Amino acid sequence: MKKLITLACIFAAVMACNNDDSKSIGKDNNVADEKTAPAAVDNSQNPDYQKGLQLVATSDCLTCHKVDERIQGPTYREVANKYAGMTDTIVGHLAGKIIKGGSGVWGEVPMTPHPQLSEDDAKAMVKYILLLKN
Ligand code: HEC
Repeated sequence: MKKLITLACIFAAVMACNNDDSKSIGKDNNVADEKTAPAAVDNSQNPDYQKGLQLVATSDCLTCHKVDERIQGPTYREVANKYAGMTDTIVGHLAGKIIKGGSGVWGEVPMTPHPQLSEDDAKAMVKYILLLKN
C-alpha cells in the first residue's frame, strides 16, 4: 500500500512539472514582440552622425534631451521621427531654434537659447539628431 502511495506522489509531482513546463513555454513565446527596436539603419559610422554626436555630447543638450528618455525636452528619437523625410528643409530651421531657443512645438517648456553655437555646429547637431529616426 505504501508503495502505491509513493507511486501516486511521484505521478502527481511529474504531472505538476509538466504543467509548469507548458506554462513557461507559453510565456517565452509571448516575449517575442520587440517594441524597443533601435534605429532602423545603423548610422554610427556616418561622419555626420559622429560629428553631431560629439558636439551634442560636449554642449549642455544632454541635460534636457536623451535619445530615448524624456527629460525636459522631447527625445531625439521623437524629433527625428517628427521631421523624417523633411531633412533638406528642416535642418536650417531647427539649427536656428537651437541657437535662439523657443517653445510651443512640443509643449510650453522652452528650450534655452544657445547663442555661443555657430550655425554650422548647430546644423551638424541637427543632422545627427535626424539620423536617429526609426
Ligand atoms: C533647458 C533644457 C534644454 C536644453 C539645454 C536643450 N534643449 Fe532642446 N529642447 C528643449 C525643449 C523644452 C524643447 C521643446 C521646445 C518646443 O516645444 O518648441 C526642445 C526642442 C528641441 C528640438 C526640436 C525643436 C522643434 O521645433 O521641434 C531640437 C532639435 C533640440 N531641442 C535640440 C537641442 C540641442 C542640439 C541642444 C544642445 C545644444 C538642446 N536642444 C538643448 C529643452 C532643451
